[in-house]
Amino acid sequence: MTTYLCQCSQRRCRRFPRQNDGGLANRENKGSIFAMSQTAERERETFEQSVRGVPHRTLPILDLASLVDGDTASIRNLADNLRQILSEIGFLCVVNHGVPPSVITGLIERSAEFFALPEATKTALAINRHERGYTPMNVEVIQDSDIGGASRNDRNEAFNFGMEYPADDPNVISGKRMYGANVWPESVPGYDAAAREYMAHMERLSKRLLPVWEVALGLEPHHFDASFESAHSYVRTIRYPGKAVLDVEELGIRPHVDTSFMTLLPRENEPGLQVMDADGEWFWPDCPEGGIVVNFGLYIERLSNEVVRATPHRVIPPVTGTRYSLPFFMCPRLEAVVECLPTCCGPDNPPRYQPESFWNLHTDRMSKIYPHFAAKEGEG
Ligand SMILES: [Fe+2]
Repeated sequence: MTTYLCQCSQRRCRRFPRQNDGGLANRENKGSIFAMSQTAERERETFEQSVRGVPHRTLPILDLASLVDGDTASIRNLADNLRQILSEIGFLCVVNHGVPPSVITGLIERSAEFFALPEATKTALAINRHERGYTPMNVEVIQDSDIGGASRNDRNEAFNFGMEYPADDPNVISGKRMYGANVWPESVPGYDAAAREYMAHMERLSKRLLPVWEVALGLEPHHFDASFESAHSYVRTIRYPGKAVLDVEELGIRPHVDTSFMTLLPRENEPGLQVMDADGEWFWPDCPEGGIVVNFGLYIERLSNEVVRATPHRVIPPVTGTRYSLPFFMCPRLEAVVECLPTCCGPDNPPRYQPESFWNLHTDRMSKIYPHFAAKEGEG
């Protein structure tokens, strides 16, 4: 009779029970299986340490308490602050932003009710070619080859809604992709009202920041106004269930950059967001309680000729509990032309990208990183 003893001192090795063996062949076989299990366990621990063991860093703060709409001095003061931040990591945290906490918690509560519904009820609202609706757990996967490939699907479920276009909009009438109406979960009373209230507050906050951006980038006042009329902003409500021990390559959302101008993300109940710095190192971003994390996307990266960085980020599932996340993607109108700002290019610094519409930029990128989005390309 032989007793197999664990070869390492890791606490998780208690999951490999000591066993008795009745013969040599059986022992060799078990020894081989045991060695494989040890290797798999080491790989899992290495992966987990590599994603959960990264350092914390405090995000730069943009305090909007001093922002008086239309007041040149207060806007210039914040623009100086923003200009400094733009040269750093491409993430910041806004505080004193004016979005009532009840508006955020209201949508989190309605979202929790929605995600608790039976799967069949949720999938009846399956995400459509306008990127509105529900995607089940472990179905989506981000495959951004610029940052990292994907070997398994993302551990989240989500529900999307966004800009509501008038019925007489020519693009609505023609059925152009992205212009479709929202779908609402009627089983959750008040969901649509909570969603619209959240959208309205985040839209207002993001547009209050536009004059600050204009000064920070040396632009004329109101430069962005036309691009953000009928802005195609949207919200992705996401649920990340906790998992104490991650499998290899198991992430909440794989590394990617957003297509937006800015993405606004109220600080969540459970940590999960991680940011990649300019040296390729991941870190946990710290933002004060009640703050809203803001990151920059491909739209402003291209407009600024890469002066502003679209910063890669990812999400790690919480250890315990459930993380609810409500990113608001501030985007321009879909037909806005994405071209280099006059202050960001010149004879010595030619534009790095050809002009194109935001519709093209967004749908091309989404098709590249989301197989489900590409699969709906030819529909309708
Ligand atoms: Fe993102």
